[in-house]
Amino acid sequence: MCEDWENMISKGIILAGGAGTRMSPLTKAVNKQLLPIYDKPLIFYPLSILMLSKIRDILIIVNKGQIGQYKKLLQDGKNLGIRITYLEQIKPKGLPDAFILGEKFIGKKNVAMILGDNFFYGQGLSKNLNNCTKLKSGAKVLLHKVSNPELFGVAKVNKNNKILKIAEKPKKNISNLAVTGLYFFDNNVVKYSKTLKPSKRGEIEIIDLLNIYKKKNKLSADYIGRGGAWLDTGSIEDYFKTLLFVHAIENRQGVKIACLEEIALHNKWIKKSHIQNQIKFYGNCSYSNYLKKILKISA
Ligand code: G1P
Repeated sequence: MCEDWENMISKGIILAGGAGTRMSPLTKAVNKQLLPIYDKPLIFYPLSILMLSKIRDILIIVNKGQIGQYKKLLQDGKNLGIRITYLEQIKPKGLPDAFILGEKFIGKKNVAMILGDNFFYGQGLSKNLNNCTKLKSGAKVLLHKVSNPELFGVAKVNKNNKILKIAEKPKKNISNLAVTGLYFFDNNVVKYSKTLKPSKRGEIEIIDLLNIYKKKNKLSADYIGRGGAWLDTGSIEDYFKTLLFVHAIENRQGVKIACLEEIALHNKWIKKSHIQNQIKFYGNCSYSNYLKKILKISA
């Protein structure tokens, strides 16, 4: 293996806060990221994306009073070969707040951030992600074609892949390339986030942060190709579509999407004994049966 792991992004943040108002009453008592996408909680999916990016040091930002629920599920990450720390966000102040809250966690490193409700799937995705973690300076976004760009951050790019414009939920169509909820930043992100002023809706905006990088000619883009899927589970409809997607793929192929232990074993971060611990922890369920199958295959 000739990858220079030392210089790759090794820290990642999952922003798993938010009131999930669009999904009420489901989210009245349970945080959205703990709701099931078919056979596992939603948080497994963004976590699996960071793990596929070979990111092992992970900060999960959750709503006030919810750390206990997440810890019950993911603990400190040891059995997954990763280190998970948790922080509370007292009230939603916008996506870049993650970098202000996470300043100590980030330290002097570069960092990736994924939104807790974003779902990515597709062949070649790992290669794509590994490319992104090579980022040394500037910021990188992952773009994906959508039919309803007015619901997302969107980017207009030219023939040479240069980002010409980036805007949040523009009423007038400027492009059908949505900015997905997975971002890669250099260490300036902490400093820049602190300079942001709240928008009309009273929150600091990721698009304003990305525009700081763009103005300095430091914003680049990568793409999730046509063969890849990006789903945002923010509304009931999209949540349900994601669930059906996972159900269809898993049952057709007999493989699981976002099986954290499978990824960790593949990355050589854990031993079979860790998987055995996890089987005991999850108890008798289809997820554990799948883990047993993995143990047998790799025997
Ligand atoms: C947020 C971002 C938006 C991005 C989207 C991806 O929007 O503000 O730029 O395209 O996540 O999921 P929200 O889902 O909070 O409306």
